[in-house]
Amino acid sequence: MKYPIRFTSLFLVLIISSLSCFASSPIQADGLKCEYLKNPLGIDNPSPRFTWHINDSRREARQTAYQLIVGSDSLQVAKGIADDWNTGKVTSDNRLVVYKGKALQPFTKYFWKVTVWDKDGVKATQDPIGSFEMGMMEMKNWKGAWVSDSRDVNLKPAPYFRKSFSAPKKIKSARAYVAVGGLYEIYINGQKIGNHRLDPMYTRFDRRTLYVTYDVTHALQEGNNAIGLLLGNGWYNHQSTAVWFFHEAPWRNRPAFCLDLRITYEDGSQEVITSGKGWKTALSPVIFNSIYTAEHHDARLEKEGWNTPDYNDKDWKDVIFRTSPSQNIVAQVMVPVRNVEEIPAQSLKKLNDTTYLFDLGRNISGVSRLRIKGEAGTVVRLKHAERLQPTGFADMSNIDIHYRPTDNQDPFQVDIYTLSGKGEETFMPHFNYKGFQYVELTCTKPLELAKENLTGFFMHSDVEPVGRIKTSNPTMNQLWWATNNSYLSNLFGYPTDCPQREKNGWTGDAHIASETGLYNFDGITVYEKWLADHRDEQQANGVLPSIIPTSGWGYEWGNGPDWTSTIAIIPWNVYLFYGDTKILADNYENMKRYVDYIQGIAPAYLTTWGLGDWVPVKSKTPVEFTSSVYYYVDASIVAKTALLLGKTSDAKYYTNLAQKIKDAINQKYLNKEKGIYGSGLQTELSVPLQWGIVPDDMKAKVAGNLAQRVQNDNNHIDVGLLGTKAILNALSENGYADLAYTVASQETFPSWGWWIKNGATTLYENWPIDAKSDISMNHIMFGEIGAWLYKALGGIKPDEKLPGFKNILLEPHFVKDLSGFEAHHNSPYGTISSVWKKNEDLITYNFSIPASSTATLRLNISTNQLVYENGKEIKGTVIKHDGGSTKTIIFLLTAGSYTFEVK
Ligand code: BGC
Repeated sequence: MKYPIRFTSLFLVLIISSLSCFASSPIQADGLKCEYLKNPLGIDNPSPRFTWHINDSRREARQTAYQLIVGSDSLQVAKGIADDWNTGKVTSDNRLVVYKGKALQPFTKYFWKVTVWDKDGVKATQDPIGSFEMGMMEMKNWKGAWVSDSRDVNLKPAPYFRKSFSAPKKIKSARAYVAVGGLYEIYINGQKIGNHRLDPMYTRFDRRTLYVTYDVTHALQEGNNAIGLLLGNGWYNHQSTAVWFFHEAPWRNRPAFCLDLRITYEDGSQEVITSGKGWKTALSPVIFNSIYTAEHHDARLEKEGWNTPDYNDKDWKDVIFRTSPSQNIVAQVMVPVRNVEEIPAQSLKKLNDTTYLFDLGRNISGVSRLRIKGEAGTVVRLKHAERLQPTGFADMSNIDIHYRPTDNQDPFQVDIYTLSGKGEETFMPHFNYKGFQYVELTCTKPLELAKENLTGFFMHSDVEPVGRIKTSNPTMNQLWWATNNSYLSNLFGYPTDCPQREKNGWTGDAHIASETGLYNFDGITVYEKWLADHRDEQQANGVLPSIIPTSGWGYEWGNGPDWTSTIAIIPWNVYLFYGDTKILADNYENMKRYVDYIQGIAPAYLTTWGLGDWVPVKSKTPVEFTSSVYYYVDASIVAKTALLLGKTSDAKYYTNLAQKIKDAINQKYLNKEKGIYGSGLQTELSVPLQWGIVPDDMKAKVAGNLAQRVQNDNNHIDVGLLGTKAILNALSENGYADLAYTVASQETFPSWGWWIKNGATTLYENWPIDAKSDISMNHIMFGEIGAWLYKALGGIKPDEKLPGFKNILLEPHFVKDLSGFEAHHNSPYGTISSVWKKNEDLITYNFSIPASSTATLRLNISTNQLVYENGKEIKGTVIKHDGGSTKTIIFLLTAGSYTFEVK
């Protein structure tokens, strides 16, 4: 039967439209974060940033549009109705949006929903919802008073504070806002709140003090409640004495706090319980605590139930009012420090009747927890060390050298615990961490011990892992792990040099390690906070100290551009990895002022200000050379940032300045005829290649000379800190990837592998394992190799022109000494993978490009090799190298998973 034409077409239209309304898009927004945190509480930024990525593994997958809505009513937001902001449907593949709605209100929780459309314009069927909650926003919103127990900075025991109060009605929600000069733990009705450690994170307390917000709804009860606080010294009241004078810090004071507990009852009424008169204080069993050395605890002094409502505090004293540490109390918006990994002791040795040695089997930053039974008054000392004397006892000599104790009461990295004698007792320090592998336990009376009595906790800023490396070389895998261990051991709300001897925010170590950090961990919140620390420390003339934060030490020594270029390099790297300009904008004036200062002291464009190639294997490169290169790097970053921020005249000025610095370096150090810099050392040749100093027409010659130099050095490194940043990259980026890998994978001295072969589980500060100075066993300073694995072997690099891996520069090197390699990095757009395997003459390369990203793939292969996909040859753009046996094939690719074969 034949239908009339009109009817047929109507029928078709109906079918098509019903199909498209049921067509579900496989796309979904995922990984929602606000200010780079999942559902944060207590943020102060009135224009928070929202980020997400989309899950869509199809070829050419991308987001073509989004709609973001914000409101305070979760049900309404779920329905798509927003009171505070509605972007409408925006045609864009953006995954980072800055809030531009109605003014956000303090103490208010908001919900946000993002709807996305896929490459075909099909809308996602499910829209995830995130939340964020505003905190104080302004200083004037604090109700509580700053209080303390005393003014005596030398008083040793840590104070307890408590207040009981009644909550007369059913509680709907409650938040505690806690600001402290020092460190603290907060308890409600006997329960410790949260799992953060060492809050608040260290800042220059007299310029900026951080407060933390907790959801305490479930800790409170209708009726009687008690809040308890234990305050520690931290960097606020540094009682231990060492060469950096933290005991003379201008902010030093007895710990103090300010607290607002905001309760909302079911009936909608609100009440704020605040710090102030009415709070009681007493000394705690923590009889001494130092962030730098250790903690002492006398369990006989425990006040059972001190943080519960029924406790009788009639013998406790009233608190006193105190000045606030600064006029700038701001939200701590960052991942906290936690006890991230639990590490059981691997072995226990009895050294004599009262001395035992626990071995964790690996070096960590953190604490040990002791579980023990014994007679009241027995004193246990726990000495934490990285290495042992030949006798098997702990050896402190590599880590206590900068410590200047005034008596024997505060031994370095030695916790002291006095038993209460009441059954099994547990001790773990509240306000300290250490760097250690071994714990030597001595006791005043013999104790029965098994290795289970002691557990280590690896503590650090709990940054999410975002990278993974696996190679066919087990030593290299171990080295990658050790590098990450050192990176994490040196991340405590600010990057440090080492977790034992110093715990200092050494700038040079941190910028060198920043790419290793960013490939492996989601560290933006820590870097944003640390750059704010930089702004607090910078002098009006632009100068920064070499350690940040500082009590004042470091303006005098070590703060040249090779170290304090952190002010430019870290914002730039964070921008490259996250594609967010905020950190550049926030620090623009500061980096500019810094460069201007150097210009003032270096009218001829070269500067001798700096430390140079620190802890070299043997050869020493002139300081002027490396410092001037870093001066150039900073000037270039200022120029590029100016361009991004629309400051065109600055861009012109600093581009010009950078050029003059480059010219001055080449003028003085480059021998054009020979193609060498200076005397042709590894650092002298690799640093200018890495940082773009070498004129284009000289690159091949300089790189050739570098390769020759390395071969003359027996394919081993001869560099220090600044050279390690450059050597492997300079080789692999200039045609010598195989040689770079040979150097990187050496297992004899001097090399990273030499440490690993000798049992290292972290990176060291010096190349010889039996060096006499600079011998911390947990330094991140030589850690660039961790980033190099991604950059050279995986070939995953951000593209300056489309940062945040919007476009990926993908250039793997299938080096001859590896049969397989994997690198994965969770970028802001999703996971980038670069995985290759070799089988005789066949290289199989599997890689994936996340949705909304693209990649510029460069394959460096030999002239007789071809590239196939699904058995068919694919051509790309071929660049032949003059006279060589290799060619580069370039492919411009969209999102998706690919398998290429090279044969
Ligand atoms: C630190 C280094 C730091 C150096 C500066 C040392 O004490 O541990 O890592 O960069 O001083 O010279």
